[in-house]
Amino acid sequence: MSENIKKLILGIETSCDETAASIVAHYGLGRGKILSNIVRTQLKEHENFGGVVPELAARSHIIHLENIVQKALEEANIELDEIDAIAATAGPGLIGGVLVGLTFAKGLSAATNKPLIAVNHLEAHALSARLSDEVSFPYLMLLVSGGHSQFLLVNNIGDYQLWGTTIDDALGECFDKVAKMLSLGMPGGPKVEEMALKGDNKRFKFPRPLLHEERLDFSFSGLKTAVRLQAEKIAPLNEQDICDICASFQQAVIDIISARSKDAIIKFKQEFPSIKCQLIVAGGVAANKGISKALKEVTLQQDAILIVPPISLCTDNGAMVAFAGAERFALGASDGLDFIAKPRWSLDSEDMRVNQNEL
Ligand code: KG4
Ligand code: ZN
Repeated sequence: MSENIKKLILGIETSCDETAASIVAHYGLGRGKILSNIVRTQLKEHENFGGVVPELAARSHIIHLENIVQKALEEANIELDEIDAIAATAGPGLIGGVLVGLTFAKGLSAATNKPLIAVNHLEAHALSARLSDEVSFPYLMLLVSGGHSQFLLVNNIGDYQLWGTTIDDALGECFDKVAKMLSLGMPGGPKVEEMALKGDNKRFKFPRPLLHEERLDFSFSGLKTAVRLQAEKIAPLNEQDICDICASFQQAVIDIISARSKDAIIKFKQEFPSIKCQLIVAGGVAANKGISKALKEVTLQQDAILIVPPISLCTDNGAMVAFAGAERFALGASDGLDFIAKPRWSLDSEDMRVNQNEL
């Protein structure tokens, strides 16, 4: 092992339908290297139910987590006793799954006497770009996944401001529901994107909710309902109808995300006139090429920088948890074995703060 390595961190992620573990070597703030990143998706287990079943997800994490952690250690060529700290997602998320990962981490921590770091899953997403790219604080974050759609101002580690969020469905969830109503299967997002490529994005005029309002929030529920009503109206649907619905739906999403991102960048520029705005995109929906192309245009027009980390870091994974844990650990943070898993845990809450004086 190189002497340069400051800390080796194990990261565990079980808050939704991915059982994941990773080893990250941390050389100091903003400097991490992924030594392994093992993800087991439960997609097949939930396929027949048309969505993630929390009870099944938790059971599956129980069955597979130990093996996934073992694989992460093996691939990194690291023994458990070489690890400096154990980080695990402690919320927000499906509480059964979070409890599996956090309890496993607590057990490891107790057995090995290594510090435990309870990681906020959203913080892990928010910091993940620092693992793949040169990103400096403050920056703007657009998180669009199956569970979240939000704009965050990332001021520093532990210091976040929620600038906007969805008032109903998350964007990935909306893609998944549209796919389900069109019988496209799971995961919905990639299927809708594929069909959209062959469709006419102007055939149907779907709503762009909240765009007339100034706040940076999203609403996708009305859009989803409009798609359903349109599909029912022209049923039975042929292949071209489905492609046209997907293309028109995706165009509405692109317009919403583009307009909101432009507003968020303008707000950032007003708050930080001397800092170039970096817009980081994360979450599974970041894989959508139509959306990332539109964001590229918006950032170009606004003289901002767009950073989309590799998709393996955008979707749920253990490396982002290990890295967020490592960053907090470097600032002197660790948590007791009595840390309680949190189904909800806002990033702009006071308990996210870490002592920046340790820097
Ligand atoms: O971040 P993620 O892997 O898991 C969490 O939700 O935490 O995101 C999964 C979501 C799903 O809703 C999926 O349909 C969506 O991301 N997604 C996409 C695409 N790929 C994945 N949505 C639109 N276009 C895509 N290409
Ligand atoms: Zn996530």
